Amino acid sequence: MRTPMVVANWKMHGRLAEARELAQAVRDGLKRPRGVEVAICPPFTALAAVAEVLAGSPLMLGAQNCHWEESGAFTGEVSPAMLAELGCRLVVLGHSERRHISRETDEEISRKVAAALRHRLQPVLCVGETAEERRQGLTFTVVEGQLRAGLAGLPAEDLVRCTIAYEPVWAIGTGLTATPSQAAEVHGYLRGLLSELGSKESAQAVRILYGGSVKPDNAGLFSQEPEIDGALVGGASLQAASFITIAKKSAAKSGASKE
Ligand code: PGA
Repeated sequence: MRTPMVVANWKMHGRLAEARELAQAVRDGLKRPRGVEVAICPPFTALAAVAEVLAGSPLMLGAQNCHWEESGAFTGEVSPAMLAELGCRLVVLGHSERRHISRETDEEISRKVAAALRHRLQPVLCVGETAEERRQGLTFTVVEGQLRAGLAGLPAEDLVRCTIAYEPVWAIGTGLTATPSQAAEVHGYLRGLLSELGSKESAQAVRILYGGSVKPDNAGLFSQEPEIDGALVGGASLQAASFITIAKKSAAKSGASKE
């Protein structure tokens, strides 16, 4: 039911020439990805250039954020309609760097999720605890709050159009990763909550990605966990070879989907 997905989050990397070159190399290395869907999320300024490179390829284009309004006096913001027009199919929302550096609130993130869905963009809603929260035993409380708030008010049929990314903040860009079983435990918990919010069936259809220092040498371990449906990749997505390897290692065996 769930085909794994691997999403490249380039963050604030990639001026035009680099972005084109990296997107071309990924496209050429993943001409017909089997058993995995692949998306690239460049910075806003490179979206149009990467859209051209990806035209006609099965790789999807995504953005790293959006505003919730369609247009208006919101200096510096970009609307979901603008992203859809450029060919974006998904948008990362509530990334911990936006929660912590840009002080985005759960309420804002939930408005963004709803707005993305209105424009047929697949939200990739990120949740995850800090090191301190994990130490205090608050991991489940924190991710539960973020998930419930981020998806608040969505009708059950919209839940299945969302993807969730579990990204422990202490694992992002640090080289530390959750162990596959630590991640799988949180993923299982999140899936239980999704069943409550929608139905058991819809919860089974929602992909839950893991993110936080996913590299070519650990991607295979995560993909063996039935509850882990792919990866959100930061640092290792900036090199075509490592991202391609991660995508291949994240593919469902023999092209089958996860239940
Ligand atoms: P990382 O970033 O792979 O560099 O840890 C992941 C993310 O921030 O999405």
